[in-house]
Amino acid sequence: MFTARSAFSTIGRRAFSVSAHQSSKVTILGAAGGIGQPLSLLLKLNPRVTDLALYDIRGGPGVAADVSHVNTKSKVTGYDPAPEKLKAALEGAEIVLIPAGVPRKPGMSRDDLFKTNASIVRDLAKAAADYAPNAKLLIISNPVNSTVPITAEVFKAKGVYNPKRLFGVTTLDVVRASKFISEIQGTDPAGEEVTVVGGHSGVTIVPLLSQSNHPSIDGATRDALVKRIQFGGDEVVQAKSSAGSGGSATLSMAFAGSRMADSLLRASHGETGVFEPAFVQSPLYKDYGCEFFSSRIELGPEGVKEIHPVGKVNKYEEGLIAIALNDLAANIKKARHCDTPPI
Ligand code: NAD
Ligand code: LMR
Repeated sequence: MFTARSAFSTIGRRAFSVSAHQSSKVTILGAAGGIGQPLSLLLKLNPRVTDLALYDIRGGPGVAADVSHVNTKSKVTGYDPAPEKLKAALEGAEIVLIPAGVPRKPGMSRDDLFKTNASIVRDLAKAAADYAPNAKLLIISNPVNSTVPITAEVFKAKGVYNPKRLFGVTTLDVVRASKFISEIQGTDPAGEEVTVVGGHSGVTIVPLLSQSNHPSIDGATRDALVKRIQFGGDEVVQAKSSAGSGGSATLSMAFAGSRMADSLLRASHGETGVFEPAFVQSPLYKDYGCEFFSSRIELGPEGVKEIHPVGKVNKYEEGLIAIALNDLAANIKKARHCDTPPI
């Protein structure tokens, strides 16, 4: 498992085992933002990344100049906002991460970001479909439950859609779940793994505590823990608002996004047994009726290798999933029938 503690030590160790022929270009669209900057730094520290392309409508080259002074081998290039620069940023990318878009303010839901972010993601997805159709695309911009289906529609319309390569990033939900459960149990979060299924917003986030190391957590403790995992994002939005800085999770999200990208790189470089959760087009559709669903996924060279079944859940979790599916279905439908047509 990739944890905060292991992140840098593992990267340091792997620096010696990554062979020279494995070149991997990673592109960040929205690289100068709250998530984009620390994400750029973390990817600069990853020896599997050989080229880092940083694009933003504002400040890409500045972030690139700064990060490029970190003394790791990879080459960093910043791009100004122009169609030919976006093309250059995307061409040859193995992984494209998209954190471009606005974050929440207190009182807003992720769905309230749809109006602004749907068209930002749609336009960047069009460019990715044109210039990096074979890249693994990691959508961070909210509402993930809708921006992922929008991206799928764009890729379908361009005739280059491969569901194995499109991921809504839900890694932060499992990062939070493992940290919050360890706080209650007094354990090391590195040893705590909690499967989280559904989507990425409020009640669509469903932690399966019955499958964790602590299936007996129950009653008010369980209810509070589940709520904290589901609304961890709001905790950060509130705290940042009170502190006057505004915005939503950026540092923990950069950590989560960097972990997801690293897992995909490890899998594409031949490592087996690499698992991450992600919001993807899912065969679990037949069980849950939602075409996109987040669950535990085994990664491989193509991206998705195998989407694992949700497995055994208890009555309480069945109830949580039923509630999640309502919102999730609405979020996906909205992406399909929105005023932001895919093309
Ligand atoms: P931010 O405002 O700090 O940064 C966004 C960046 O995107 C800015 O630098 C902006 O210039 C850039 N941008 C806007 N439109 C662009 C475009 N068309 N092309 C390229 N760049 C563009 O916001 P943030 O805090 O970094 O959050 C970004 C998004 O990530 C938000 O939608 C937020 O809700 C989401 N988020 C998702 C998760 C998750 O778990 N998936 C976690 C945290 C935040
Ligand atoms: C999160 O989970 O922190 C992100 O989705 C950002 C948010 O709006 O809460």
